[in-house]
Amino acid sequence: MAEKNKKAWGGRFREPLAKSAEEFSSSVAYDRRLFKQDIVQSIAYARTLVKAQVLSVAESKKIIKALEEIMRGIEWGRLVLKTELEDIHMNIEALLIEKIGETGKKLHAGRSRNDQVVTDVRMYVKYEVTEIVLLIKRLQSVLLDLAEKHIKVIMPGYTHLQRAQPVLLSHHLMAYYEMLQRDKDRFLAAGKEADVMTLGSGALAGTGFDIDREALAKELGFSKISKNSLDAVSDRDFIVSFVSAASLLMTHISRFSEELVIWSTYEFNFVEISDRYSTGSSIMPQKKNPDVAELCRGKTARVFGNLIRLLTLLKGLPLAYNRDLQEDKEPLFDTADTARGVLSIFAEMLATVKFNAEVMTAAARKGFLTATDLAYYLVRRGVPFREAHSIVGKIVAYCEESNMQLEYLSLTQLKQFSPAFTYDVTRVLSAESSIASRDITGGTAASRVREAIKRGRKDLASNKA
Ligand code: ARG
Repeated sequence: MAEKNKKAWGGRFREPLAKSAEEFSSSVAYDRRLFKQDIVQSIAYARTLVKAQVLSVAESKKIIKALEEIMRGIEWGRLVLKTELEDIHMNIEALLIEKIGETGKKLHAGRSRNDQVVTDVRMYVKYEVTEIVLLIKRLQSVLLDLAEKHIKVIMPGYTHLQRAQPVLLSHHLMAYYEMLQRDKDRFLAAGKEADVMTLGSGALAGTGFDIDREALAKELGFSKISKNSLDAVSDRDFIVSFVSAASLLMTHISRFSEELVIWSTYEFNFVEISDRYSTGSSIMPQKKNPDVAELCRGKTARVFGNLIRLLTLLKGLPLAYNRDLQEDKEPLFDTADTARGVLSIFAEMLATVKFNAEVMTAAARKGFLTATDLAYYLVRRGVPFREAHSIVGKIVAYCEESNMQLEYLSLTQLKQFSPAFTYDVTRVLSAESSIASRDITGGTAASRVREAIKRGRKDLASNKA
């Protein structure tokens, strides 16, 4: 085989790799995103090789200087990465050898692309986790601002998308704050899972060189080292954890998007999404569509798809490394990009949403939303709950027939349904009193929501995420 066509691994080959196979298996088009991690890793590794007596100090310095130049070269687009060199790791190694010759060929001693690639990906995931956590916090702070601004706005709370009980809009908004709080924890846990340094695992069995794994981990900012080389080179659980954290995050944003879509309909008219985040129709001049919210909902599908891609990728793999694992990167990158993109546009859009407080509150006054409160009133007067439930059911039916709201019933009318009603019943019939009565941790009473907002502000200000 002609020397110039030879791969770095071409020693035992008589024929070159088919062009089609080369194109089919090349990953540099997407794993080029790991170039910084790969170079930072190699720089640390070159230092370790001095301690392991594989490189002299001078050789290590030469390698590090060249790697730094290659980093800038790739960053500024001066260096071309070649498809035929398979992946980012081989490209960087080839550039290094091109630059400094023989010395460059020494760097890969005791290392394999199998432990190299997963170290890069772990560094990448750790970085993405910090970015995403910041974006989640930004969205949470938009929610806190809105909740504070609309602290006393009353709206219908729903179950089965049927009006159920009155709640505060601020309470509804804070529900999403809580979901995001859990999302943040899940991303942080995925980051912790990724925080394990795998170098020193070699191709699969470990390495015979005296690599100081602890020092290497420290230099690369990892807090732990892997404990089994076979597991280390084939473990992608941390990617699944990252993508599954993203899947739940997307689920939450999708639910919220769905609400904004419904709330912005003519039928609901609870919110107006700013023109800046809506689009028109090319045929119907009157239309204003909530496309950004819809796309946030729609992009959830990509992330779920990525999760299934990864789980399916892993399920049949024998130990240890298999080339299938190269397919882990696109779903991972796509998930990170999607989550970041969605978090940032959603926060922007949400901050400009106009809530139609009057419409929301009017809706909470119609539909017998305080029926439960009326039943509880009877319970407090000694009527067993089931019986109270049935009495109020009859009252609701009566109101419906006579096109009346509970609030407007007189005491005389109420007394016809139960002698337990007395003059103070009117107090429990308004949406305001219903809300105020939910004065319990986690309830919708304004004081409780204020407490939740205060707690949220404190959490966001603390560094613990
Ligand atoms: N591009 C490969 C990947 O992403 C790197 C490891 C290749 N190792 C190998 N033995 N072919 O997984």
